[in-house]
Amino acid sequence: MSFSPRDFRDAMGRFATGVTIVTGVAPDGSPVGVTVNSFSSVSLSPPLVLFSLDRGANSLEPFSSGRHFSVNVLHEDQADLSQNFARQDDDKFDGIPWRPGNNGCPLFDGVLATVECTTETTHDGGDHIIFVGRVDHVDLVEVGKPLLYYCGSYARLDAALQQAGG
Ligand SMILES: Cc1cc2nc3c(=O)[nH]c(=O)nc-3n(C[C@H](O)[C@H](O)[C@H](O)COP(=O)(O)O)c2cc1C
Repeated sequence: MSFSPRDFRDAMGRFATGVTIVTGVAPDGSPVGVTVNSFSSVSLSPPLVLFSLDRGANSLEPFSSGRHFSVNVLHEDQADLSQNFARQDDDKFDGIPWRPGNNGCPLFDGVLATVECTTETTHDGGDHIIFVGRVDHVDLVEVGKPLLYYCGSYARLDAALQQAGG
């Protein structure tokens, strides 16, 4: 390899993304949620999306055994919510208002959009597992600006445009 792990991380960091919280339901009925920026659309017809999940994530087991997941696309004011679900703790849902969507997976208020899915396939992705979901339902919840993630930090669209001279 002609590059270090640091080079790889830095190069990937230059690919700006949105931020999502992917949710599910554990076999005991408890809600599961994890902050994810590997979310991507895959196919329009049929409508498919994907996200990749670290093999070391606590949520791997519940997402692997569950049939559904939902994607909450975060608004720029939801960095705190993102940080909350980026913790590896059991109490992530404490004090966080949520409601079950059509498939039972948690949905949050104030997000830009929700995407409710049935897990179609999973694939080996090195130290991650790739989840592909068939989209059953979408909601355009709020009109607003997205929370961005760029070079390892949260970013706002306006600041990014200003920096670019836009
Ligand atoms: C902006 C952001 C994006 C992230 N994206 C991913 C991702 O795509 N896949 C992943 O496995 N972890 C991702 N993480 C890390 C997880 O959110 C974190 O490891 C979390 O603690 C996992 O929770 P769990 O162990 O309860 O599943 C991301 C974290 C942040 C802050």
